[in-house]
Amino acid sequence: MVVSSAPGKVYLFGEHAVVYGEPAVPCAIERRARVTVEARDDDRIRVHAEDLSLDGFTVEYSDENDDAPDVDVSESLIQAGIGYIDAAVEQARDAADAPDAGFDITVESDIPLGAGLGSSAAVTTAGIDAGTRELGVELPAEEVAERAYRAELEVQDGEASRADTFCSATGGAVRVEGDDCRSIDAPDLSFVIGFDGGEGDTGELVAGVRALREEYDFAADTVESIGDIVRHGEQALTEATGEQGGASESESLRETIAELGELMNFNHGLLEALGVSSRSLDQMVWAARDAGALGAKLTGAGGGGCIVALDPTEGTETALEYTQGCETAFRARLDTDGVRVEDE
Ligand code: MEV
Repeated sequence: MVVSSAPGKVYLFGEHAVVYGEPAVPCAIERRARVTVEARDDDRIRVHAEDLSLDGFTVEYSDENDDAPDVDVSESLIQAGIGYIDAAVEQARDAADAPDAGFDITVESDIPLGAGLGSSAAVTTAGIDAGTRELGVELPAEEVAERAYRAELEVQDGEASRADTFCSATGGAVRVEGDDCRSIDAPDLSFVIGFDGGEGDTGELVAGVRALREEYDFAADTVESIGDIVRHGEQALTEATGEQGGASESESLRETIAELGELMNFNHGLLEALGVSSRSLDQMVWAARDAGALGAKLTGAGGGGCIVALDPTEGTETALEYTQGCETAFRARLDTDGVRVEDE
């Protein structure tokens, strides 16, 4: 039996602009999906999922088309719950050259589903890692990331970004530009996440930005300005990493982290101008700033979902708990670990 876990993520900077070739910086957060895999002596897959905002279900199935899952829930719910696991199993079988391997799989996650925090990428990444290890193969994080990306492409009909799966596999802060993903330096960052319980339609939101960008030069300039913010942000992350642990740590590090917050605020303003924020996201952003957060912005596609604030104190979490429109708030530091084995 192998248990692997992988983290979710927030965008510190750059969502939407990344679609047009600008860089973006997603960061792994200390909220994880855990996947337990145990080899079976037949070719069947049995999945038990809890804590996925589904009520908890067990489904047993095999690869044959005529062998439909024997459960009393809708097909779409089954697909939502196990589509990613199914694709992860295929990747693990392929990586270990064991096309007929069967598994008992348990999925647990403390990353809210559908909130733009990369829950599906985390489940897929942890599933591939646990599945291959159970078959005696240990893949480097980059290969887990590549295979998790391919799995997401399959489940999401050819539409997936490499950002979530790479960030989940490697942990830490990541620089994404087109298909190029690489880990970058980052100091210890204390995030607070506020979730409004909803989710925007990523396709519609991306299409909205595209339309604005085509209609107005100033909207195209706004997208480019987000790229400039990301470049400044990367520089500040590098500086802060250098300042961490140094003799003059407290003063200069505080200033550089405050600069990151200011850049997050700027980034949110530009996303708002591009029409991808919402009343609940703005309310949470302002509540976080009023509570003393160094910066706050929406994270992900927008339209609803989550905000991320930078705040080492308790202030933001408490304020968000009392903010209209905020369903859940929690603290999560930047997670330097990517996919990892929890038990084997
Ligand atoms: C969605 O999580 C992030 C977007 O930039 C879309 C994408 O990069 O595919 C809005």
